[in-house]
Amino acid sequence: MRKLKLKLGSNSYEIIIGWDLLQQMARLLDVAGLRHDVVIITNPVVEQHYGNSLNQNLLQEGFKFSTLLVPDGEAQKTLKTAEQLYSRLADLHVERTTSILATGGGVIGDLAGFVAATYMRGLPLVQVPTTLLAQVDSSVGGKVAVDSGTIKNKIGVFYQPRLVLTDTATLQTLPAAEFSNGLAEVIKYAVIVDKLFFAYLEENMQRLRAKEESCLEEVIFRSVKIKAGIVEKDEKDTGLRNILNFGHTVGHAIESASDFKIKHGEAVALGMLAAGKISLRMGLFNEGEFNRMKVLLQMAELPARLPEIPLARVSEAIAHDKKIHNGRIRFVLPKSIGEAFVSDEVSLVLIEEVLSTWHE
Ligand SMILES: NC(=O)c1ccc[n+]([C@@H]2O[C@H](COP(=O)([O-])OP(=O)(O)OC[C@H]3O[C@@H](n4cnc5c(N)ncnc54)[C@H](O)[C@@H]3O)[C@@H](O)[C@H]2O)c1
Ligand SMILES: [Zn+2]
Repeated sequence: MRKLKLKLGSNSYEIIIGWDLLQQMARLLDVAGLRHDVVIITNPVVEQHYGNSLNQNLLQEGFKFSTLLVPDGEAQKTLKTAEQLYSRLADLHVERTTSILATGGGVIGDLAGFVAATYMRGLPLVQVPTTLLAQVDSSVGGKVAVDSGTIKNKIGVFYQPRLVLTDTATLQTLPAAEFSNGLAEVIKYAVIVDKLFFAYLEENMQRLRAKEESCLEEVIFRSVKIKAGIVEKDEKDTGLRNILNFGHTVGHAIESASDFKIKHGEAVALGMLAAGKISLRMGLFNEGEFNRMKVLLQMAELPARLPEIPLARVSEAIAHDKKIHNGRIRFVLPKSIGEAFVSDEVSLVLIEEVLSTWHE
């Protein structure tokens, strides 16, 4: 078991990473000073795999708990579902000291986190992430939100959890495609700030994809440490946190131009390659390092080929991106493996050129 603390003054919290933590849930909640009264918000997929072991542990330790199920899928990340959850919380007569256990992937984390942040002006929130993406990314940093219309995460707040409990054993049941989705964010962290971590991933990708216990723990710990370090310096996303958008400007645009048929991690992988190509053209990155990035993404079963999507829609989506300031795109570029920076020098024309000549 590994622990690290995200230091944000009175909003500080611990992130605990380890195998079979669900079976120790009650004790860990107790150590964190939380009351023995919890509401688990989860979905039927996660409930089916892990409901029993979690419930058993809470029962044994005399916890009072209820489980609220939300159907699976991003389509549930809405104010409508949040409202349904509010009324179920009201039916349960929850008090302000009742903790919400957001148990699932990023969809559950964002939705249950948003509900916890807003119900009665805030209930204690415990993130219990069960996808790799949620474990290395969405459970850490306090962004919670629901979607509105076609705009993802449009309605949200910053609300830090009281505790993050990451049970790495839950990844055993995660489908391979979802695992790769999370690996895109892992590789992102390595490229932007940590060349030793990148080398570790190059050496251990097989073990990682085989979900070996010690390897999972190491990789999740190192990823979370990087994200936590950045969040500590920029809790409300006003500057430094921008670096975490590496691969995401083009990535988000590819996702939306494909009507979300291309998964987030796949789109981010392509976005990282696009950023690499742009940086190469600007003479700021080198071919050898670009190829290492490409090979590692392929080892993670992530795409390197641009799929058939209308490029006009991709550039339109980039042009509408919120990361544009005064007509300039804030773009994260790799300088070398382990170092990236935010540039205002990337034009839409250059991005279009790189996308249209992708396979040359
Ligand atoms: N708040 C943030 O900072 C932040 C950061 C990144 C992404 N996000 C959000 O995260 C969401 C994506 O999260 P995700 O990729 O985890 O998707 P997800 O929550 O939809 O989970 C993916 C699939 O895996 C299933 N699943 C979850 N745990 C499982 C397990 N242990 N075994 C088997 N199946 C399991 C889910 O039921 C779902 O079908 C998006 O809504 C995105 O906006 C938020
Ligand atoms: Zn992402």
